[in-house]
Amino acid sequence: MADGGRPSLPSPLQIERLRYRWPNGTAALKHCSLKLPGPGLWMLVGGNGSGKSTLLRLIAGLLQPEGGQILRGCAPALVFQNPDHQLLLPSCGSELAFHLPEHQSLERRLIDAALEQVGLGGFAERPIHSLSGGQKQRLAIASALISGAQLLLLDEPTALLDPDSQQSVLTLIRELCPSLSALWVTHRLEELDYCDGALCMERGQAGHWHAGNELRRQLEQRGLPRGTTG
Ligand SMILES: Nc1ncnc2c1ncn2[C@@H]1O[C@H](COP(=O)(O)OP(=O)(O)OP(=O)(O)O)[C@@H](O)[C@H]1O
Ligand SMILES: [Mg+2]
Repeated sequence: MADGGRPSLPSPLQIERLRYRWPNGTAALKHCSLKLPGPGLWMLVGGNGSGKSTLLRLIAGLLQPEGGQILRGCAPALVFQNPDHQLLLPSCGSELAFHLPEHQSLERRLIDAALEQVGLGGFAERPIHSLSGGQKQRLAIASALISGAQLLLLDEPTALLDPDSQQSVLTLIRELCPSLSALWVTHRLEELDYCDGALCMERGQAGHWHAGNELRRQLEQRGLPRGTTG
């Protein structure tokens, strides 16, 4: 953001008039534009079918847009709602080794540091099936970080977690965010209190940034707008 005439830093992510239509003809994004103001924790809310998950998949490069532009200032990585859909290997250490960038030699200290960073210090040998839902979600975040991603795309990452784990994942991302960017999709309006800014998606378009607690107050009063893109 412009600040007293100082030149603005490049945004971690800028999206301009993005369009996407699923093969069945559903227009999920309709000239959707948004710009992350800088590093930090940014949240997206919106009714079912408003295009939030489609937008994250386009930013991650899993889908190709029909039109418009995505300008990525840093490498993105997706964190899914259900960590069982993205954790592939038997142990925490092998999962992280799999996500090391190709040029990076396999060094145990990198794996230990990544586990430490998400509060799973000493877990390298732990079988993934023995982790709680919250621990699995932390491991998915560690996998994203060790891959070199600096833009985390989190699609309802707390939706399947118990209240304590929800809070710990939110606190973890909050602590990581001064140096990273995170775009976090949520239906839990109370999570908006923790972000640096939030916007509402409606029918395939993004609204303006608001302070998270302000958007929460507005949405608690008037409810979420109708989501579906129709
Ligand atoms: N694989 C798919 N094939 C066809 N249409 C899809 C597919 N996935 C999503 N859509 C449609 O695209 C539109 C946007 O869906 P999307 O999943 O992005 O919404 P969302 O905002 O993430 O919703 P929710 O809050 O329910 O997760 C909807 O109309 C949805 O039905
Ligand atoms: Mg979704």
